[in-house]
Formats: sequence, C-alpha cells, structure tokens
Amino acid sequence: MANDQTSPPNLALCITTEDFEAAAKKVLPNKAWVYASSSAASGLSLQSNLDDWSRINFRPRIMRSVSSLNPTRSILGQPGSQPFFVSAMGTLGNAHPGAEPLLVRGATRKGLHTVVSTATSKPLEEIMEAHLDEQRQLGHQSPSKLAFQLYVPVDRNLARSLIRRVKAAGYHSLWITVDTSTLGKRTADRYLQAQEALDQGSRETVREAAADNAFGPAFGGRPVPGYLDPGLNWDDLSWISEEWNGPIVLKGIQTVEDVKLAVQHGVQGVLLSNHGGRQIHSAPSALMTLLETRTYYPEAFDKLEIFVDGGLRDGADVLKALCLGATAVGVGRPYFYAMAAYGIEGVEKCTDVLAEEIEITMKMLGVSSLDQLRPDMVNASRLLNEMWRPDIWWNKSKL
Ligand SMILES: Cc1cc2nc3c(=O)[nH]c(=O)nc-3n(C[C@H](O)[C@H](O)[C@H](O)COP(=O)(O)O)c2cc1C
Repeated sequence: MANDQTSPPNLALCITTEDFEAAAKKVLPNKAWVYASSSAASGLSLQSNLDDWSRINFRPRIMRSVSSLNPTRSILGQPGSQPFFVSAMGTLGNAHPGAEPLLVRGATRKGLHTVVSTATSKPLEEIMEAHLDEQRQLGHQSPSKLAFQLYVPVDRNLARSLIRRVKAAGYHSLWITVDTSTLGKRTADRYLQAQEALDQGSRETVREAAADNAFGPAFGGRPVPGYLDPGLNWDDLSWISEEWNGPIVLKGIQTVEDVKLAVQHGVQGVLLSNHGGRQIHSAPSALMTLLETRTYYPEAFDKLEIFVDGGLRDGADVLKALCLGATAVGVGRPYFYAMAAYGIEGVEKCTDVLAEEIEITMKMLGVSSLDQLRPDMVNASRLLNEMWRPDIWWNKSKL
C-alpha cells in the first residue's frame, strides 16, 4: 500500500481542478509528471493560456429567473451534457495503467465527448470498445461520442490506412492537428533526457516512440521522424476529406487569417489552441485568438463551430469562452492529473467540479440556458488593449 508520501489526498478534498494537479504531482513518476506538465521553451505560451482567462471579467445580470438551468451543448450535431470536452492527450498510459479506455469510460458516464489522440497507449479500436461497452452498461443513456485527433504521418499510405481504421471504428469526427510541423522544444523533457543519457554514460539522447503506437510522435522531448509532417498544407484537406467523408475540425489555429482559410476550405470546425503551450514559444493564448476572431471576422461564428482549449481550469472560464461565441471548450491537463491520482473516479470528479462551477456561474450571471450568453456579458477590455491590430502594421508597410 502507498505510504503518505506517495498517496494523494482524499478525493473529497479535490474542490478545484488545480487540486488534481497537486495530487498528481505526488503520485506520478517524475518522467510522467514532466511529460504532462512541460511546455515549450520558458513556458510563456502555457502561462498566457492560464493568465488570460483571469483578465476577463463578467458583467453579471440580476433578477432574471434561473430556477431551472440547461448547461447542455451539442458539438458538431452531437448532443453533450456540458459545454466542454476532453482534449486530445497522447500516451495516457503514463497517467494511469487504465490509459485511454479508462478515460473514455469516465467521460462517457458523465455524458462528455472525448477527443482521442493519434498517439494513444492503447489501440484506437480498444478505446472505442471501452466507450461502447460503457454505453451498453449505461443503457445507451449517455450522449457522449468519441472524436479522433489526427497527426498526419508523412507516408500518405499510412495516413490513409489510419483514417480508414478510425472511420471503421466509428469515431464521429476527425480533428486534424495543424500546429505540429515539428515538435515544440519541450524544455523540461530535454533536461530529463539529457540527464538520463549522461547517467548512462552517453551524450546522445534516446528517441522514444509512443509506447506501442507506431503512429504517435515521441513521448518525450523529440519528434520521431516520419510521424509529424512538415509538408502538410491546405491542399491536403481535399484528400483527407475525401477519405474521411465526415466532420473535420482543424486543431491548433492561432490567427484570424487561418480561421478565414478554414472557412474557405469548408471544414466544419476550428479548435483555437496553442497546444497547451507545448508547441511554438510566445504563442497567442487560445483566448486571444478567440477575441481576434470575434473582432475581425465575427461572421465565422455562423459559418463553422469554434472551439477553444488551453488553460481552462474553472467552469467560469468555460462560460467566458461561450460568451465570446465559442461552441465549447476543451480541457486537457486537469483530466490527465485527475486520472493519474484517482483513476476513473478522478475523471468523474473533475467533470463534476467543472459542471458545478458552470452551474453556479450561470445562476449568478443571470442565464438559464447557454444560448443566452452574449459578448456583452464579459468585459474583455484589458485583453483587447493588447490584441493584434492590423491597421498599424498595414500603415507601416505602406511607408
Ligand atoms: C500530456 C499532454 C498530451 C497531449 N497530447 C496531444 C496529442 O497527442 N495531440 C494533440 O493534438 N494535442 C495534444 N495535447 C494538447 C491538448 O490537446 C490540448 O491542446 C491542451 O492540453 C489544452 O491545454 P490544457 O492542458 O491547459 O487544458 C497534449 C497535451 C498534454 C498536456
């Protein structure tokens, strides 16, 4: 049995999503902790994700009846119990031996959608089987569905066969990650690998594939050649759509110009994201990209579904994103940590924590249903002051 040093606090003491992080730090082996918590370079991209949510305030309305609440939200036509979903995370075997099947069972119990990574610890078919089995046990009462996050391998035959497997397994949408022309410089991972190599008497760091998954990029700080395609471009969307023949979301969009291109290419959704701060150093926060889109291309919100992820740690943050027009938001690390420390109960509790915060905030904001959320229910002036302004650059380029 685990001693006090390594056992997490009682689950009842997890009141906020941050509590799962502290609990996971206690129980996870250092390597797995570094994998989940690390970010690119000095951590600026991760930090701005976390900070920017706190730089927006609500403008709550009073005396509006909120005796009955409806926090449900559909994603790409699939009803869900909440306006958030579990973001794609690779190699969840590092969080818990139950890995992705355990995560999707927990999410299915709560009616949440999950985006399953290409870089899983278990085969994508086994993950779908766990989801369907849980559905059966719940008497098919859960609205939850599985989506698939695609890293496009350089070898197009491999890419096509992967897409066919995903389709055959019954995943409902394909979320193509478009911010990984290479792997970000994950500083903490690099230190760890360098130290391990030195301990083994070598200066060469070892490249690791994602456990048994030939499609996954590295678990660790370096890319495995062939599994992230620096040649990926907009033209690739035509063969991918043809092969997939279903809803497509582009994951990792960071500018309004690329939202526009996504609309022009006819995809069904975009996930504004800086990959949880793990890819480019000094990235805009996902929230900043949402504001940029709201400001310069508001028509986008009627043309496709706009999702956001990165740094969401409180149900109130979810509602801020929805006020600004997001369909739903993704939550990553809190689920990794909850699962690491408490297994399936952690996954369920993490969902309950966010759901309760959403409920409390909806009531005090004066909305009984999510479609009543409006941009004027938030004050985003501080962030707007720092937002990119095209006219300044345009004028300069004219000089
Ligand atoms: C441990 C970990 C693994 C991840 N693996 C993937 C992945 O395989 N594919 C991908 O597109 N994004 C991956 N991401 C990024 C997430 O999908 C998501 O964008 C990010 O975690 C959201 O930020 P948050 O962790 O602050 O909620 C990963 C993130 C973490 C923390």
